[in-house]
Amino acid sequence: YGPRVVATRKLLPESQARLEAQGFDLVQWKEDASMPRDLLLKEVKGADALLCVLSDKIDKEVFTTAGPQLKLVTTMSVGYDHIDLATARETETKIGYTPDVLTDATADLTVMLTLAAARKMKQSVRAAETGEWREWRPDWLCGSQFTNRTLGVVGLGRIGEAVASRLKAFGIGEVLYWGRNKKPVVEAKLNAKLVSMDTLLADSDYIVVCCAMTPDTKELFDYEAFSKMKKSAIFVNTARGGIVKQDDLVRALDEKLIAGVGLDVTTPEPLPIDHALFKFPNCVILPHLGSATVEAREEMGQMCIENIVAALDDKAIPFGLRL
Ligand code: GLV
Ligand code: GLV
Repeated sequence: YGPRVVATRKLLPESQARLEAQGFDLVQWKEDASMPRDLLLKEVKGADALLCVLSDKIDKEVFTTAGPQLKLVTTMSVGYDHIDLATARETETKIGYTPDVLTDATADLTVMLTLAAARKMKQSVRAAETGEWREWRPDWLCGSQFTNRTLGVVGLGRIGEAVASRLKAFGIGEVLYWGRNKKPVVEAKLNAKLVSMDTLLADSDYIVVCCAMTPDTKELFDYEAFSKMKKSAIFVNTARGGIVKQDDLVRALDEKLIAGVGLDVTTPEPLPIDHALFKFPNCVILPHLGSATVEAREEMGQMCIENIVAALDDKAIPFGLRL
């Protein structure tokens, strides 16, 4: 037997074929569902590498159950808030992830949600399909456009930059951003300005959340934050559901504090179909599809495989976090 590699999901066809050709002692959950927690804990015992996805909770119990031979946890995602990094540091387990290759896909989807919320797509599709569409009317389902409007980017990283540069092509005027670090190079490219959260909330017509979920950004968007936005503001989150205090968002929509919302991420995922957020015609919700292109998902699989091969060879992994 080769080294024991546990994978909690199947990959897309090309990367899956490559994974199977590696000669690993491969344990893979092949159902079209998440690997049950108890099975993950059973299979990970004695594993040399673990390939996971963002819905797997990789906590201390997983690391300790696996044992000291575990060299790598590699996640098929750019986010890694589901992985206990403190324990990874203690156990000297390498952590791999998949940045860059999903930037375009995720930025495209963020623009799609921003347009969908701004142009009332959910109401419009419903109207067309339900017979509510009686005639062309001058004032019917009118949304807002981007020309000379202000965009607020929360987290001007790879994805935030790609969203801003796309929306500039749609005519966005000023780009404001908020984040931990000043980004002089990106600022110059986009003519973007680092501002306080209060300024971003008050001055932006469109607010897109593209930051990682950390203790600093958890529940950053609460009732107070929504209260500070323009009544005409469009709010889009394609990062992590936990960055929004969801009950407060429901209240903000009830009170019409903002004009439209686009979400690709929620708490929990999946969001129960009877959840209050689904009842708002001006809140478009997608089932966490940011990186869902064949191109991005195949590349993400390939990066996971390259990380596994390197880690099993005791080499530095090509797509890893510095712990
Ligand atoms: C998706 O949410 C990712 O982190 O890749
Ligand atoms: C709309 O269809 C227009 O012709 O203005």
